[in-house]
Amino acid sequence: MHAEAKWLKDYQPPVFEVMDLKLRFELAPTSTVVTNSLCCQLANGQVLSDMLLDGECLTLVSIRLNDQLLASSDYRVTDTQLIIHQATLAQAVAPYQLDIVTEINPQANTALEGLYLSSGRFCTQCEAEGFRKITYFFDRPDVLTTYQTTVIADKAKYPTLLANGNLVSQTDLPDGRHQAVWVDPHKKPCYLFALVAGEFGCLTDHYTTAEGREVLLEIYTEPRHLAKCRHAMDSLIASMKWDEQRFGLSYDLDRYMIVAVDDFNMGAMENKGLNVFNSKFVLADADSATDIDSEGVEAVIAHEYFHNWTGNRVTCRDWFQLTLKEGLTVFRDQEFTADMLSAPVKRIEDVRRLRSHQFAEDAGPMAHPIQPQSYIEMNNFYTLTVYEKGAEVVRLYQTLLGRDGFRKGMDLYFQRHDGQAVTVDDFRLAMTDANGRNLTQMQAWYQQAGTPKVAVKITYQPEQQAWLLDFEQHNPKAPKADPLLIPIKLAAFDGQGRAWSLATCANDDAALTQVAGEWVYLLTEATQTLRVTGAPADLVWSLLRDFSAPVILDYAMTPADRLHLAKFDTDPFNRWEMVQQLLLADLISQVQQHEAHQLDSQQVRPAEAVVTVLKTLLTEAITDSTRTDVDWAWYGYALSLPDIGYVIEQFEPVPIATLLQVYPAYQRALGVALADLWQQTYHTQTAQLSTDYAYNAQAIGRRLLKNRALQAWLASGDAAAVTAAQAQYQRQAHMTDVSASLQGLMQWHEAESEPLMQDFYQRWADQPLVLDKWFAWQAGYGKVQGLSGVQRLLEHPAFSWTNPNRVRSVLGSFARLNLALFHQTDGAGYQWLADQVLRLDAINPQVAARMVVPLIQWRRYQPQQQAQMRQVLQDLHTKIASKDVFEIVSKALE
Ligand code: PHE
Ligand code: ZN
Repeated sequence: MHAEAKWLKDYQPPVFEVMDLKLRFELAPTSTVVTNSLCCQLANGQVLSDMLLDGECLTLVSIRLNDQLLASSDYRVTDTQLIIHQATLAQAVAPYQLDIVTEINPQANTALEGLYLSSGRFCTQCEAEGFRKITYFFDRPDVLTTYQTTVIADKAKYPTLLANGNLVSQTDLPDGRHQAVWVDPHKKPCYLFALVAGEFGCLTDHYTTAEGREVLLEIYTEPRHLAKCRHAMDSLIASMKWDEQRFGLSYDLDRYMIVAVDDFNMGAMENKGLNVFNSKFVLADADSATDIDSEGVEAVIAHEYFHNWTGNRVTCRDWFQLTLKEGLTVFRDQEFTADMLSAPVKRIEDVRRLRSHQFAEDAGPMAHPIQPQSYIEMNNFYTLTVYEKGAEVVRLYQTLLGRDGFRKGMDLYFQRHDGQAVTVDDFRLAMTDANGRNLTQMQAWYQQAGTPKVAVKITYQPEQQAWLLDFEQHNPKAPKADPLLIPIKLAAFDGQGRAWSLATCANDDAALTQVAGEWVYLLTEATQTLRVTGAPADLVWSLLRDFSAPVILDYAMTPADRLHLAKFDTDPFNRWEMVQQLLLADLISQVQQHEAHQLDSQQVRPAEAVVTVLKTLLTEAITDSTRTDVDWAWYGYALSLPDIGYVIEQFEPVPIATLLQVYPAYQRALGVALADLWQQTYHTQTAQLSTDYAYNAQAIGRRLLKNRALQAWLASGDAAAVTAAQAQYQRQAHMTDVSASLQGLMQWHEAESEPLMQDFYQRWADQPLVLDKWFAWQAGYGKVQGLSGVQRLLEHPAFSWTNPNRVRSVLGSFARLNLALFHQTDGAGYQWLADQVLRLDAINPQVAARMVVPLIQWRRYQPQQQAQMRQVLQDLHTKIASKDVFEIVSKALE
């Protein structure tokens, strides 16, 4: 297979400028006719050349230029372009009016990019380069224009006809058809185009903006799911209000529409005025959705709404700038969720995800800067790096400038660039100019792949009463790169646990500054030393508080110091971090011992210090259980082991077989060592929860802690825990509890889970999103039947290769959670996944490319797994058809 890479350095501004675009769709499942009337002229300073319009999988019917039908000698059609010859254009008068008629087959579109059908409903997905599968156009984000869209379809089958902007007219046509005309007055790039047609129910509400605009809010879904849209609507209204309060940004159209579809490659899409969502991020009620699901709905609704300013009003010049809109919008949705629920817990959740997934990506063969330099398939660059690390980089500005300074930068960014397609440099310059700060060094964060390491050595000189903090930064992926600007939030606590003020030494060192009451030490050099004088000898340093930069801190703290901060640190993030580091260090040492001495997993024993700290936390949680001012989710996370993905990150090579013995054995041992306290925590928290489901930080936190306790108690093997989990399932209080009991049972008592899983299937067979869980739990935790059990899921009548959620629930959960089967010693797990990827590639390359990712980390494992995984990848490389999977597998084998 041959596939060309596109490079950032080759960027050229558009030759033509589009003044207006009128689209007319005559919808029919196998043959939709698209008439595209576009008015364009040479862009400023450009000279006439061939006109290159992007288009793929289109059947060209006719082209008119200024109303003259073109002959086939006037243009040329390739697999990817329509080229109108310069000579043809030279004979016409500008502006050029082009009328291009093409035909497409939405029914055959299983890649879900362009115009496709989902459960008999038409919808579109154009980002990144899907518009070219709808019609010939300049499919690049820096060509902006106004759109008028006419949608024509059979009225009985497709009663609802939607497109971007405002509805201008809706009329009946002969032959049982009807038509709707939509006009979007805001100029936009074509990746924000959307069209939807089908039978829907609609939940409506209203919002009055700070500017006094009355906005009609509509959520469209399958009629039977209407009752599950309330949470999404409340989230939308909260987002609209929050963006006005925090950033002074109001909505700009009279209508905001959200459409839920079952078949969608990603989470959701921010099309102007007409978001299209994976129904997973719209539908939620207590019976069918867990707390995590509901938080997902709230965050994704907010995310897409926030894109209206960060993405749509100000968009990207080219796809290399993707993080300009995604990093910024993720940061905004993180801040929103922090304000809605618990800020420390949100930070903990985000850092957990970053460390267990983004760090791995950044250390593997697909590592790329948040502003990539090249790509073969753009869809492969909607990554954790561009999104999550990108959000961390945006957060750096806020850490450096404070909330007010950050807001000033945002204001200037919109003032300068509203209506434009810009670059990450424009964003940085707005932050710079609004604050009168030189932020040139921030550029390096956009250009380096890899997670930077910051090594710290701390010493005390008693004669001078001086603390020396030696910092050294380096990036293993980019050893020669320029040093980064790394803000280290820090504090110190004395032997009694009192915060010690750094104020006395602040004048000495310009790199030590105070931002919003917090001390920040700015690393700008490869090595740097902070000297703190006149300080007592018993200080314990709290570094990188609130995870102030996306780096790996290499600082050998003593267990005693960790315990001290776990107790006294005033930063809840670092208190959590200290407990996690104690656990991680212990886990690593157990794995190393077992690897070296071939001990068996019976001999896994958590260290005394670990048991003590968890005991303290559990005792506190039990004693304080009636209090309502406690962040219970914090306890839930502090009492959880570091994710196995994060533990895997710590080894090179990864002793996977040992790790997969030790990790569950460690979980079991912790369960046993503290069984009584897990049980009491479970009961005391249960007693505090009302039987009615409530969505707020208190209730969510209590459920999280309670179910964490249930899990650990189940791991202990105690029969009473099994009974408690079964009873919790039978109560059917809400999906959070049902899900926790089933997952816990499947993981630790698979045989006992079986009748409940059957019951679950009976209850939920007709609810796809809930059935996804049933598939995911079996693929992720089912061990008894081995690989054949997972294979059987693919043969189940409810399995579908064309529904990405269903595919992810089996293939994704298998490779991410069922590590014992995925890494089984004969390599059959790898082969099985590769076989499925190949099969999926012919149906949906974009999703196939995601599913292959667990295999690409092969170099990190020991020789046996390396050889097995590489063999499977090499084999895949020769067979694969799509450039999506090709790009990833090629990079893995480089
Ligand atoms: N732009 C979408 C978002 O982040 C993600 C997306 C990308 C959706 C590509 C579909 C296709 O909100
Ligand atoms: Zn986004």
